[in-house]
Amino acid sequence: MVPHPRRDIELQLPRFAGSRTAHRGRIEFSPRPKQTFPGNSEASAEKTGDAARETVALAFFETSTRTRISFGAAASRLGADTMNLQAEASSLKKGETLLDTVFNLYAMKPDCLVMRHAASGATDYVARHLDIPVVNAGDGTHEHPSQGLLDALTIRDRLGTIKNLNVTILGDIVHSRVARSNIHLLGKFGCKFALCGPAMWVPRELEKIAPGTPIRCVYRIEEALDGADVIMMLRVQTERLDDPPLSANDYVLLYQLNAVRLRRASPNAIVLHPGPMNRGIEITPEVADGPQSCVLEQVTNGVAVRMAILYLLISGASESGTHPALEVKSKESANASD
Ligand code: NCD
Repeated sequence: MVPHPRRDIELQLPRFAGSRTAHRGRIEFSPRPKQTFPGNSEASAEKTGDAARETVALAFFETSTRTRISFGAAASRLGADTMNLQAEASSLKKGETLLDTVFNLYAMKPDCLVMRHAASGATDYVARHLDIPVVNAGDGTHEHPSQGLLDALTIRDRLGTIKNLNVTILGDIVHSRVARSNIHLLGKFGCKFALCGPAMWVPRELEKIAPGTPIRCVYRIEEALDGADVIMMLRVQTERLDDPPLSANDYVLLYQLNAVRLRRASPNAIVLHPGPMNRGIEITPEVADGPQSCVLEQVTNGVAVRMAILYLLISGASESGTHPALEVKSKESANASD
C-alpha cells in the first residue's frame, strides 16, 4: 500500500464507527509542512503492483455519490482493490438480510468494509459480527465521522486551527448525521455551537447531545450568524419541507444564507456544505461560489482523510498481525482521560 498523501494527518482510531467515541488525543492535524508522496493525486496515482493487494469492500446500502466515489478513489490511490455492492441491484431487494449480505461480502475476504446504511446504528451492528475494520460512511441520522474529519481538516487548512471556534450549523439538524459528527468532533477541541433552523428541525433537546460542549439552539438566522467563525450549511431535504408545513419560499426568506446575512459572521468566516447543495434554497449561488466557500476543498480533503483512515486501518492490521478493532478495549481504557 502506498502512503497516504497528507502527512499532516494522523489518526489513531481503533474502529471508525463514530466521532463521539473518538478521543481528541488520537486525532491530530499537526501543522507540519505538506510533502508529496508517490501516491499523491498531484503526482501519479502509483499502484503497488503487489499480487497480495488489499481489498476494500464498499457496501453502500443507501445512495451516495460523493462519499462512495471518495472512498473508492482513496482505496485506489492507496493501491488497494475495491469490491462494490450496488444496493439497488443487490440481493437485499430479494429479501436477504443485512447480515447475510455482509457475510457474503466478507466471505470474499476483503481487508476492510466501508458501509453506509439508512438505519442509525447499522454500522456498529455489522462491526460486532466481523473481525475486519468496519468504517462508518454514514448511518441514518446518527453519524458520518469521515465527513466530520474532512470538515475539521478543511477548517484547519483555512483558519489555521480547529480550537475554540464559534460554529454555526444551519438547516435540518435533527435529521443530520453530519451535524452530529461535527459537534462530537469539534466539541472535543473547545468549539461552541449555534444550531439554527425551523423549530421542527432544531429541537431544544439537541443542546444536550454532547455533554460539556456549549450548544445553543437559535431560531433567528441573524443571531445565529453573529460572530461565527465557521458556518456549516446542511442540505434542505425538500421532501421534508411540507411536513409540518413550511414552504420553500418561507425557508428561503427565513433561513437561506445569502451575502447580506453572511456579513454578520466574523470577517474571516468560512462556509462549508457537505453536498449535495440545493442552490437557491439553503444557500445562494453567490455565497456557494464566493471566496468564503470551501465546498470543493471539502471534497478534495475527503479523499485525503479517507486515504488516511483506510491506510491506518488496513496497514495497521497487516503490520501487527491482528487488526485494530481487536484492540479497542485496551486502547480506549488507556486513553480514558483524554
Ligand atoms: C451527506 C450525507 O449523505 O449524510 N452528504 C455527504 O455525505 N456528502 C449530507 C446529505 O446528504 O445531505
